[in-house]
Amino acid sequence: MEKIIIGNFKMNTKPSEFKSYAMTLATKTKGTKNDVIVCVPYTHLETAKEILTESVVEFGAQNISEEIKGAFTGEISAEMIKDLGATYTIIGHSERRAKFRETDRLVNKKIKTALANGLKVVICVGETLQTRQNKQASAFVKKQLDDVLKGIYENELDSVVIAYEPIWAVGTGKVATPKDIQKMVELIRKEIENLYSEKAGKNINVVYGGSINLSNYKKIISIDQINGALIGGACLDVDGFSAICRENY
Ligand code: 13P
Repeated sequence: MEKIIIGNFKMNTKPSEFKSYAMTLATKTKGTKNDVIVCVPYTHLETAKEILTESVVEFGAQNISEEIKGAFTGEISAEMIKDLGATYTIIGHSERRAKFRETDRLVNKKIKTALANGLKVVICVGETLQTRQNKQASAFVKKQLDDVLKGIYENELDSVVIAYEPIWAVGTGKVATPKDIQKMVELIRKEIENLYSEKAGKNINVVYGGSINLSNYKKIISIDQINGALIGGACLDVDGFSAICRENY
């Protein structure tokens, strides 16, 4: 079964270091049936276009502005990354929500901007440890989905990947249990079904992210109803990441 494997570089590596990474990834993923995507810093997109265009690897950014163009100093638009060949953007990552105060309302606006500009969107949802300990994780993720998907049409969901990233598992080495991940994936599908249709719930792409590495990815990706993985730290090692991308699941 083909999987969606997404690497999120976060604010790591310099543009000058990315060329050899991209060349190795392109070579080592040749022939894989999985969808491989790397979401790199904006500064790497030009190189990504140059090296990855002829490969199986798609690439994208980790954020976009909710605005189209104009007087927004320091911002990068959907159109700009599209022009550099990006096909994806991550929206609503927990680091942007926590450190840059992005709200569900803003995330919703960014998703609409991305989709309107023909980009595919990885939408991140996930609860804090406290929310989980208070047994509110399901209700929290359900509300996040309701809020960020407001005004998004069912026919746009083909361009959407929902990433379940429990905040306490991001960059901590702590992975959610397969049972909890599966429960949340089922909840996400059920909520998409409630919001749209049974077909939409069945077809929506759902991935897990949070401390995935070379030794635990098989166990996670083989969880029932999961479509793939969103990988932070471990994607920076091109050999290890390529091995995950080449896997026949
Ligand atoms: P880690 O894989 O480093 O935990 O990061 C996950 C993540 O945030 C990917 O978006």
